[in-house]
Amino acid sequence: MTAAWINLAYLLSAALFILGLIGMTRPRTAVRGNLMGSIGMLIAIVVTLFEQRVLSYGMIAAGLAVGAGIGGWLAVRVKVEQMPEMVALFNGFGGAASFLVAGAEFSASAFPTLDQSIATSLSGLIGAVTLSGSLVAFGKLAGLNVMNSLKPLPMQNAVNGLVAVGVVALAVFMVLNPQHVALYWLIVLVALALGYFLTISIGGADMPVVIALLNSYSGLAAAATGFVLQNNVLIIAGSLVGASGLILTKVMCDAMNRSLPAVLFGTLGPTGDTKSADEVYTTVKATSAEEVAMLLDVARRVMIVPGYGMAVAQAQHAVRDLMHALMDQGIDVQFGIHPVAGRMPGHMNVLLAEADIPYDLLKEMDETNSAMEQTDVCLVIGANDTVNPDARTNPKSPIAGMPIINVDKAKTCVVIKRSLSPGFAGIPNPLFAAENTLMLFADGKEAVLDILTAVKEG
Ligand code: TAP
Repeated sequence: MTAAWINLAYLLSAALFILGLIGMTRPRTAVRGNLMGSIGMLIAIVVTLFEQRVLSYGMIAAGLAVGAGIGGWLAVRVKVEQMPEMVALFNGFGGAASFLVAGAEFSASAFPTLDQSIATSLSGLIGAVTLSGSLVAFGKLAGLNVMNSLKPLPMQNAVNGLVAVGVVALAVFMVLNPQHVALYWLIVLVALALGYFLTISIGGADMPVVIALLNSYSGLAAAATGFVLQNNVLIIAGSLVGASGLILTKVMCDAMNRSLPAVLFGTLGPTGDTKSADEVYTTVKATSAEEVAMLLDVARRVMIVPGYGMAVAQAQHAVRDLMHALMDQGIDVQFGIHPVAGRMPGHMNVLLAEADIPYDLLKEMDETNSAMEQTDVCLVIGANDTVNPDARTNPKSPIAGMPIINVDKAKTCVVIKRSLSPGFAGIPNPLFAAENTLMLFADGKEAVLDILTAVKEG
């Protein structure tokens, strides 16, 4: 296949990637968008096999078999709630692949051009930051014990600045002296330390933003490697991942009221000073499915606010059945969706779409909050941090300033969860002890099914 045909096929791949991304901006077209992106990737991979520079098809086949085997095994084994840590690992592996390929190419080329040296140093720097940062994110999300012993250094921000300046200086030096290949691996080592330092300071509650950022970095590293290899489709695909990851990071920063520069530079957020659970949970009132059904019986407006616990309980189909039963009684039912509810962007939307809950009933946070005071019963199903009023009222809380769904402003708030255990941020939630809150302690799915039975009998 000639270079012209290869580039034409790459152009088709790039167009499919862009159409795929456009499709994925809406739940209704997301599946089609995903398919388009996948076809674009298949074309890119197949066409690359026709490149004149391929050395060994046997090695490629072996790599594909091992990678596909591990990927397939993980896809079957990993639970949906482990998805964020999987995404963190994938980002890290992407960064590692980029800096290894760029390093191999750089070592093999006797006379690298200035462009190639610049691109190689960028790939090493960004790829290595992505790898170590992603491994830290993985460890924090997976709750690995080893993470408890890894603490930020004193004056961590100053250390971050020094290491960043050092690695950029090394990169400039390497570009000016491309004959010293060892410099490249030194950049990789220092950048690995930088990725670790930048991520170790970020609190658990801010991890979603960091993962989006690392996703963007993995794309930028791939784009830089594309310049090293002079491969157009890698440059385009890497840039698309880099740009869309950055947009997602901005959206997540806005959703959590965090500043993008603070996340970029690993600056510490509030260190956390909340009351103990014993101090907060002095006036908790437990309820039963029958009592909740009685409240729903006289309600006119019901808001359902799902969170991570709905995903764990796989309660979405039961929730849909309850929604239909309430609507049949003339009750206005809507869903309030927090942008970081669950463990991945769009987590709640995906689950509710899976249960065929109409998109127009899903309300974004602002719209939900403006309807809250007219809501008779707010049913919180497995949400915790995203409905914690401490974010509004306690400036020292680890989630201070994060916009939340103001479920405490509904006339009555019913919270379904199994216990008073904390959510992802690990802090108590004063909502559970509020005057207008009733706690239904049970598994999300069982509780919703019990309420449904009581509503139908009532
Ligand atoms: P969380 O604050 O994580 O709370 C989830 C609650 O669900 C827990 O308190 C748990 O209480 C309950 N739960 C677990 N299993 C349950 C079951 N089977 N039935 C009923 N309840 C169950 O959830 P959230 O409000 O959705 O907040 C999300 C948090 O995750 C935020 O802090 C966010 O920053 C973080 N995060 C989000 C993302 C993205 S992108 N969405 C990614 C990573 C992290 P019990 O154990 O008492 O039942």
